[in-house]
Amino acid sequence: MISNDIKEVLISSSQIEEVCKKLGQQIKNDYKDKQLIIIGLLKGCLPFMSDIIKNIDDYVLIDYMDVSSYSGKESTGKVKILKDIEIDVTNKDVIIIDDIVDTGTTLSNIINLFKERNVKSVEACCLLNKPLNRTCDVNVKYFGFDIPNEFVVGYGLDYNELYRNLPYIATLKECIYKK
Ligand code: IMP
Ligand code: MG
Repeated sequence: MISNDIKEVLISSSQIEEVCKKLGQQIKNDYKDKQLIIIGLLKGCLPFMSDIIKNIDDYVLIDYMDVSSYSGKESTGKVKILKDIEIDVTNKDVIIIDDIVDTGTTLSNIINLFKERNVKSVEACCLLNKPLNRTCDVNVKYFGFDIPNEFVVGYGLDYNELYRNLPYIATLKECIYKK
């Protein structure tokens, strides 16, 4: 059982459920009378995006992007697009959804990319925010929880591509990293 690998649950599934309701209603109110396009960043966005859109009682279009950020010494501070969207976003109102904003590199680059694509507006929505680790200035209008600068998994977030399917946010036991 993967739950045996968990050290501590930081955010429970009922807390997540509550925050998704709140964010969904907030987005619905902010975008009434607008044609909203919600774009998820794969794969981390999956459970969060699914719960957010179910809580927006309005017409929305959805699409996905897959991006990878360069890291380490080679870092250009840019992101590479592995899969692009199919919807035309010119002059449209867009919200980008991701699991977490950490350094801010991914979201600040994606937000700039959408501005270059001449959207009418672009905002970001993340379940988690690690404010202590920011290196890029990015404004995340919608977010669920601030968390300390600790590595977490679950609800879309992975360690070596695993644990995305946990229904809560948790830390892993130290022995998992030594395997
Ligand atoms: P940023 O570009 O540094 O803001 O990082 C965003 C990406 O880093 C997220 O979409 C995650 O994929 C990954 N990430 C950042 N912190 C964590 C974590 O604690 N656990 C798992 N993935 C993380
Ligand atoms: Mg990610």
